Amino acid sequence: MKPLDEIKPQQSLELLKELHILTRDGKINQDSRRKLKQVYHLYQFIEPILTEVSCDGLPFHLIDHGSGKSYLGFILYDLFIKLTQGRVTSIEINEKLVNQAEALAKKLEFTRMDFVHSDVEGSLNHVSGDIDIVTALHACDTATDDAITFGIKKNAKWIIVIPCCQAEIARHLKKQKTKSLHMPISELWRHPLHTREIGSHLTNVLRCLQLESQGYQVTVTELVGWEHSMKNEIIIAKFIGQKNNKSKSRIKNILDEFQLQELQSKFLCE
Ligand SMILES: C[S@@+](CC[C@H](N)C(=O)[O-])C[C@H]1O[C@@H](n2cnc3c(N)ncnc32)[C@H](O)[C@@H]1O
Repeated sequence: MKPLDEIKPQQSLELLKELHILTRDGKINQDSRRKLKQVYHLYQFIEPILTEVSCDGLPFHLIDHGSGKSYLGFILYDLFIKLTQGRVTSIEINEKLVNQAEALAKKLEFTRMDFVHSDVEGSLNHVSGDIDIVTALHACDTATDDAITFGIKKNAKWIIVIPCCQAEIARHLKKQKTKSLHMPISELWRHPLHTREIGSHLTNVLRCLQLESQGYQVTVTELVGWEHSMKNEIIIAKFIGQKNNKSKSRIKNILDEFQLQELQSKFLCE
């Protein structure tokens, strides 16, 4: 990947100040330099995808779920999307953050940024038309799963998620603990810390299989330099249209192995 300079010529200094990357007097300190490096690192994964979806010069649409302050949407818009016909829609459950981000976009005249106050699941009804890219950066717990389902249902060309903590599978493993005690494999989730870790890992494995079963080619990699977060796995899925039945049966087998049959409809998109 090619290195990026600290501040790109097209970047809005006002945005960088609003995001506290630059100080009010336009300086960059050690902390913000690190933050900027992390943002660029993530951008380097997304830039080739933006290049691909915008290469025909036509409009395209990126949806960012669990957007918080819309940090990711603003950076992508400022670095790339504002020079194209692309649009960004941020979906966020916290109304105050939605209003703040909307006001900032208006101030910066980022006219092709929209903000929707909704949970990810409900947003299916708020967003119409074709979707090119779905992102979810540390969207809490099952919001990442909802973002994946959203992308699949909307036939997104690309789905990019950096999962946050996930508690749902750990909850199910805990519930089934007594039933699974006779199985040697249950040692993997005997201690609460291991239950949480294996729950989280298992979730990401199932998410990848789900994406493959629905016609996506999946890459899993690490966001290095992302020291401020333990959650640094990035899952990049590209729609290739070939549904993978082997992945489907693997989902069933894994759920059986871990006594998690209750979650079949979720990961099999039934
Ligand atoms: C850890 S923050 C990440 C924010 C942002 N993506 C970022 O990386 O800066 C998670 C955000 O997801 C939002 N969120 C959690 N569950 C959600 C849901 N089901 N639907 C929409 N937003 C959700 C929270 O309100 C919060 O703003």
